[in-house]
Amino acid sequence: MTGASNRLGPSLVEALRRDGDRLRLMSRRGTGPGGVRGDLATGFDLPDALAGAEVVVHAASDARNAWEVDVAGTRRLVQAVDRDRLRHLVYVSIVGVDRIPWSYYRAKYAAEQVLLASGLPVTLVRITQYFGFVDELLETARRGPVLPVPMGWRAQPVDVRDAAAYLARVARQPPTGGVVEFGGPEELAVADIARAWVAARESGGHVVSTPVPGRLSTAFRDGAALPSGGERGQRTYAAHLRG
Ligand SMILES: NC(=O)c1ccc[n+]([C@@H]2O[C@H](COP(=O)([O-])OP(=O)(O)OC[C@H]3O[C@@H](n4cnc5c(N)ncnc54)[C@H](OP(=O)(O)O)[C@@H]3O)[C@@H](O)[C@H]2O)c1
Repeated sequence: MTGASNRLGPSLVEALRRDGDRLRLMSRRGTGPGGVRGDLATGFDLPDALAGAEVVVHAASDARNAWEVDVAGTRRLVQAVDRDRLRHLVYVSIVGVDRIPWSYYRAKYAAEQVLLASGLPVTLVRITQYFGFVDELLETARRGPVLPVPMGWRAQPVDVRDAAAYLARVARQPPTGGVVEFGGPEELAVADIARAWVAARESGGHVVSTPVPGRLSTAFRDGAALPSGGERGQRTYAAHLRG
């Protein structure tokens, strides 16, 4: 797998571990048990990291350097995989990359196209926002006791462990050759998410819904970040906050 660290990585490693499987964790430093070095931005060490891999779960991403890491990096990954051995390549994408006009999402969509055109046995798994990521965004948006949130935005965030378990199940199944979507158990207004977060973490804080103009905002209001079908995670955002 690529992208073994940070938000999704550790839960995904745990979900993918199974007796008898040899799991190789690619990262830029290649440290830790099962760790191998590989850098998507440069292509360094990719052929060695991927040699003989039968299943690749490609979760690495860099939102600040997405055209290099996600798009060109995915192209490098496609060139480096062992086509004779590969049975399944699972790509971790985001719900709405085809509809939401944001440059990071455009890059993720372009990476999906690279994989679809590669002729490899792929499944593209679009997932909604992880709870932990939502918490980070709210923390960043907070201005003292005031938490401004975009008016009317809708989301269906998901527990990272539910997402990891789903990805591991998909990885063990045959490739679909297309897109599947996965989200949390409930659709929520972003303002309600923020109120729940404030109540749990920042007693006394005040959520202020603010109109945000533009096409990106329209897309989030119109539900472009909501999964259109597929399976759902079980853990709710409220349970996450209690935890
Ligand atoms: N965050 C969300 O809410 C969300 C929602 C849906 C889908 N996704 C997708 O889920 C995946 C994981 O998201 P995340 O939020 O867990 O990402 P993250 O926390 O930003 O972690 C990114 C991972 O990519 C690796 N990486 C970055 N640049 C690399 C490079 N040049 N070469 C090799 N590896 C590199 C990082 O490893 P090192 O830094 O250790 O090298 C890290 O393991 C991504 O594909 C993302 O688009 C995220």
